[in-house]
Amino acid sequence: MFVCNNCDSQFNKWLGQCPECQKWGTINEINRDNDHQIELKAHSLNAIKTNNKNNYIKTGFKELDNTLGGGLMSGSIILLGGEPGIGKSTIALQIAKNIKDKKILYCAGEESPAQIKLRADRLKINNNNIYIISETDIDKITKYCQKEKIDILIIDSIHTAFSSAHQAEAGSVTQIRLVAQTILNKLKENNTTSILIGQITKDGSIAGPKTLEHLVDTVVYMEKEQQYRLIRVTKNRFGNTNHISIFKMSKEGLQSIDNFNNQLLNHMNISAPLPGTAFSLIGDNNKNIICEIQCLVNKTIFGYPQRKTVGFDNSKLQILSAVLAKYTKINLGNFDIHINLASGLRTKDPGIDLAVVCAIISSFLNKKIKNNTIILGEVGLAGTVKPVKNIDEKIKEAKQLGFTTIIANYNKTLSNTEIITVKNISDIEKYFNEN
Ligand code: TYD
Ligand code: MG
Repeated sequence: MFVCNNCDSQFNKWLGQCPECQKWGTINEINRDNDHQIELKAHSLNAIKTNNKNNYIKTGFKELDNTLGGGLMSGSIILLGGEPGIGKSTIALQIAKNIKDKKILYCAGEESPAQIKLRADRLKINNNNIYIISETDIDKITKYCQKEKIDILIIDSIHTAFSSAHQAEAGSVTQIRLVAQTILNKLKENNTTSILIGQITKDGSIAGPKTLEHLVDTVVYMEKEQQYRLIRVTKNRFGNTNHISIFKMSKEGLQSIDNFNNQLLNHMNISAPLPGTAFSLIGDNNKNIICEIQCLVNKTIFGYPQRKTVGFDNSKLQILSAVLAKYTKINLGNFDIHINLASGLRTKDPGIDLAVVCAIISSFLNKKIKNNTIILGEVGLAGTVKPVKNIDEKIKEAKQLGFTTIIANYNKTLSNTEIITVKNISDIEKYFNEN
């Protein structure tokens, strides 16, 4: 089979120019094993042994373990992406430092062992279970892992690794896919856990073929937000993907921040919100993050009304404005709506729908929402307000953060807390008219 090094397209004959990406001289033949000579072996489902208890390897960062659904699933492949200089190599080394009872191989393609040693000294690592190698040939690396019974393999980074099965240069789409495939084929059955460090392209996704994200079990992104580093899981075969863990870079590496909400709160004015501002909580019971929704509603000057969002799903905003148009007297047909989630948060959590709706109405009417109010609810197409997941946990967290009024579809009574129960979007309109 012939494959383009640049775009990963496949052809059954050699071509000088790739018809897909128009590049010249990028198509090469790839060697395939003689698949038909390999005998198939299937296992009876009942005969397969699992080791439930020790499936997760703890990273030593509690929040990160929660974010990953319990830790690094043993035998899984984790892709860690982020911009250069964000701290990928640092966190990988710190995780290695925290795992004392496993044999870890750190393959450095970007830095020399001496440079890694310098970083390791800075991180005060003196484990003797961590081995460093400056090798980029993935076939040699996997062979070494099998021979030396390596438990955890860290490839820093996947763009420097290559397989000699193909002539394409390291870093090309073909090589990245081959490297991942080799790890998957050779190491998964040995239960070696692999952490692949990847680069980010300009549009923010991990560089390489899309197949790379399909091949691995978990995709983790590291992002910078002000002085914080956020770790977000966008794909996880072993857990959900709603968690975020937050770190700060210090002289001694990354430090987990557990009271992140309190730090965020310093930048928010919950006791005197401006019109167009609403507060909500995103996430689930392991971690709820306070979220400030800012909205600006302006009369449309020209053309179609604009619907612009930062950190919030744009099509969701279109839906919410359509719901408002149908079930309330608030007609936004001639108004532009801009939504921004403060502090660089991004979310697809539907639990903030109601808060977004309130922020829109608040800006439209130029009426501020009552002080210290948290708004929790999902809005349906019929204008109904659904309670959010883990609402009790969220309310508990909100009370701790100083919120005293809760707007939600919630029927219980709580001491020192005013609860405004909304079952429908028209209840919200009524609330704004009465206050
Ligand atoms: P690095 O892990 O090399 O980033 P990446 O692998 O994503 O390219 O770390 C990047 C930055 O972190 C670098 O500018 C130096 C800084 N740093 C610290 O501030 N403290 C530390 O303890 C370490 C190890 C790095
Ligand atoms: Mg690095």
